[in-house]
Amino acid sequence: MTRPGLLTEEKEDLKDFWSRYLDYFEMINDSRLYRDFLRAGIRSLEIRPGAKILDAGCGFAYWSFSLIDWLSRNDPQALGTISITAFDYVEKVLRTAQEKFSFISAERLKQRSPQFRVVLGDANTELKALEDRYYDIIGANLLLPYVKDPLASLKKMAEKLKPGGQIVVTSLIPNPRLIIVVLAYVWERLWNKKGWGEIKHNLPKGWQLYKEANKIKELTKSGVFKYFSKPELKELLSSAGLERVTVRSALAGQGLIAIGQKPEH
Ligand SMILES: C[S@@+](CC[C@H](N)C(=O)[O-])C[C@H]1O[C@@H](n2cnc3c(N)ncnc32)[C@H](O)[C@@H]1O
Repeated sequence: MTRPGLLTEEKEDLKDFWSRYLDYFEMINDSRLYRDFLRAGIRSLEIRPGAKILDAGCGFAYWSFSLIDWLSRNDPQALGTISITAFDYVEKVLRTAQEKFSFISAERLKQRSPQFRVVLGDANTELKALEDRYYDIIGANLLLPYVKDPLASLKKMAEKLKPGGQIVVTSLIPNPRLIIVVLAYVWERLWNKKGWGEIKHNLPKGWQLYKEANKIKELTKSGVFKYFSKPELKELLSSAGLERVTVRSALAGQGLIAIGQKPEH
């Protein structure tokens, strides 16, 4: 299916859309429900010392930071030995990802800091800037629903995996009820007794996020974006030649996490 490069009436490029959307998306990353979603996939991976990791469609690289956080709690010795490459097709978000990493590295990780680099790359194309059969692990968190041809992109990413390497792919379910994620965010704040102060402070951002999320909904309705059901996601990974595919429900039933492995031979 060919998808238009422009957003309907507003004639806005998708890259501009993402560049703006991610500023609001920061709020979602602040919710425990969403952080658990990231961690749930990471926990199931086999991250060995020296692992080479690719964060595909990284945005501000929250998936990478979640992986770093998980390792710093569970295998701190391995942390300084791994290397992470994060790519996205929006240049601006890569700069922010790099800045965020530098901050975390200097403040928290210090001598245990992994290597981290950002690369401009479009999952709709050949991804020539990335090495073939090089990565032990690829994370594609909420990327495939937004590319032109998810199977073609997944196959290209699978080429970057070493034999035996693992890929974790996530999606929302078709017609997700995002209000559940929003309510979880509000509830968490109230429960933590951060109270209305923080909620009120974040209201304008929250409203913008809601409006942007509605655009995603429209683009999904018109077939530009596509969320997957469990069987569809399983089929997608199997069709890309991946083995031992598992798919499970997460994000209070509104998201899916799929893991597959590249055959050894
Ligand atoms: C919903 S955001 C998820 C960001 C990030 N993975 C995270 O977990 O925070 C979708 C991301 O995919 C990126 N993206 C969309 N289409 C892309 C493509 N064809 N190639 C590379 N990145 C793409 C967007 O720029 C955006 O950063």
